[in-house]
Amino acid sequence: MAEVAGVVHTNGNQMKQNGDGKGDENQVSRHQEVGHKSLLQSDALYQYILETSVYPREPEAMKELRELTAKHPWNIMTTSADEGQFLNMLLKLINAKNTMEIGVYTGYSLLATALALPEDGKILAMDINRENYELGLPVIEKAGVAHKIDFKEGPALPVLDQMLQDEKNHGAFDFIFVDADKDNYINYHKRLIDLVKVGGIIGYDNTLWNGSVVSAADAPMRKYVKFYRDFVLELNKSLAADPRIEICMLPVGDGITLCRRIN
Ligand SMILES: C[S@@+](CC[C@H](N)C(=O)[O-])C[C@H]1O[C@@H](n2cnc3c(N)ncnc32)[C@H](O)[C@@H]1O
Repeated sequence: MAEVAGVVHTNGNQMKQNGDGKGDENQVSRHQEVGHKSLLQSDALYQYILETSVYPREPEAMKELRELTAKHPWNIMTTSADEGQFLNMLLKLINAKNTMEIGVYTGYSLLATALALPEDGKILAMDINRENYELGLPVIEKAGVAHKIDFKEGPALPVLDQMLQDEKNHGAFDFIFVDADKDNYINYHKRLIDLVKVGGIIGYDNTLWNGSVVSAADAPMRKYVKFYRDFVLELNKSLAADPRIEICMLPVGDGITLCRRIN
């Protein structure tokens, strides 16, 4: 049994075969797939990544925003520093210019994006809560990247529906980051697939959902984890079966699935 961020789940492969073919419960084989190379075995290893590779290279503005957000009561919602670094690198690798973010909170992933885009880059950022965005906004302004952001307050779905009515928005986005209401991810995907360009990327955040994706449905877990778990499971299945995209699920942060539109 392992306790992961409020979720108790079992390792699906707890028996290891001995040479005589008998299972040995004392020897726990962590992974059963050939080529399984996940190295992240402990919090200490994660801390090592943060301290060795992420924090020393974190831009001053992102550090300031991370520290400011840490004092906010809903800080559990923020994008982690390693994921922020990942997004920043990814956006530079794909030369993203026109992007969208659904779910801003205080703006950590938004700032990671804004810092990666060229001077004339654009982010359409949506959140039902302007107050939290405005907490982080002074830091974003100080970093000199606020001019790249077009913030829209309100639910994202109606905005997407409106955008779809204008042909010029079809295939207009290089990158879209979705980090809001998990029960709507499938509805977002139905719309975003037409707004992202062929070759562009949609990143769905939290696709490992606190590790709960491998928990038994009746395992003890926090209420909000339990509530959204089935939506995340359904999304993961549906993305894996969608022929319009190539996908890659990464164990960064709470899990991020990158979807590259191929037609
Ligand atoms: C996990 S937080 C986003 C974290 C953010 N990406 C960051 O880096 O800190 C989720 C956000 O989604 C917003 N949200 C919830 N439902 C929404 C909706 N229907 N449309 C737009 N935003 C929504 C919430 O207000 C919240 O700020």
